[in-house]
Amino acid sequence: MRLAQKMAIVTGGGAGIGEAIAHKFAREGASVLVADVPDSAAQEVVDSIIAAGGRAACFLGDLTQEEKAKACVQTAIDTFGRLDVLASNAGVFVHVGEIETWETDTFDFMMRNNTRSTFLMTKHAIPQLKKTRGNIVFTGSITAMMGAADLSVYGASKGFVHAFMMGIALEQAKYGVRANAVAPGAIATSWTTAGAGGPISAELQKQTSDGAAMGRQGTPEEMANVIAFLASDEASYVTGAVFVADGGVIPAQGAPGAQVPDLLKRLPEPTLPLRHSLGGEKGKPVVRSR
Ligand SMILES: NC(=O)c1ccc[n+]([C@@H]2O[C@H](COP(=O)([O-])OP(=O)(O)OC[C@H]3O[C@@H](n4cnc5c(N)ncnc54)[C@H](O)[C@@H]3O)[C@@H](O)[C@H]2O)c1
Repeated sequence: MRLAQKMAIVTGGGAGIGEAIAHKFAREGASVLVADVPDSAAQEVVDSIIAAGGRAACFLGDLTQEEKAKACVQTAIDTFGRLDVLASNAGVFVHVGEIETWETDTFDFMMRNNTRSTFLMTKHAIPQLKKTRGNIVFTGSITAMMGAADLSVYGASKGFVHAFMMGIALEQAKYGVRANAVAPGAIATSWTTAGAGGPISAELQKQTSDGAAMGRQGTPEEMANVIAFLASDEASYVTGAVFVADGGVIPAQGAPGAQVPDLLKRLPEPTLPLRHSLGGEKGKPVVRSR
């Protein structure tokens, strides 16, 4: 129960890594406001958390709109009375390709959803986090640290997240507010699974596994475990940090994962009842991509 008595917002909590963060936070004792767009499965995630004995509420709105971001934070305060943690996780991944293939509207859409929602939620959460000496955990990406062919725009949008996080960590430390980011490698969601609604091909999916020293993608639950640690008081001396959780992509050269035997590539047994993420309840993955 490392988040006992804590009140948290999880943006993008209706699917993928956010669904796992919401469940994990609730299991660790937090009350969770699951925030996502109106056509998301956020309410189902809330229902599932409550059915498992947790405390959760839902906020539906496009968090790139300032009034929605403000209302999201206000809903957390109205519902739970305080805010201790913002898991700033919402994002989109809608195109993979060389730069000439990027429509400018697609660039705008990706930058808006991956950066503006991050800025707005932070701006409106900080006054509440100052009161509780709370913290923010951003979902960044290793693509922001190493570049990735055909993902240059996505990587740039996550580069904003890493740099923004460090600036927030520095300016907010004097108020007792921490800020950190987790930098996932390829995590098994609809984004990184060919045919699951995202833009990734089967070939690229295989490359994401082979490029990891561990020879496989990570699971949403494995990211949620790291994020729960960073959000907890156990990470009291951690701020301004980018915590890499990528199965060993960053130090890898070539495709070391291709040599890993299949036995060792098996995903860990899931323990969270995820229904909107791959790697969740076996046989029942409901996935979506925005
Ligand atoms: N899946 C990966 O391999 C991977 C790797 C590195 C980083 N990440 C990061 O993890 C985060 C979650 O990704 P995922 O793979 O779980 O994707 P996902 O599509 O499964 O979940 C993202 C959620 O964010 C929501 N969202 C997007 N824009 C929003 C907005 N403006 N307002 C409210 N909600 C919004 C979506 O509706 C969706 O439910 C993203 O920030 C992504 O950049 C993912």
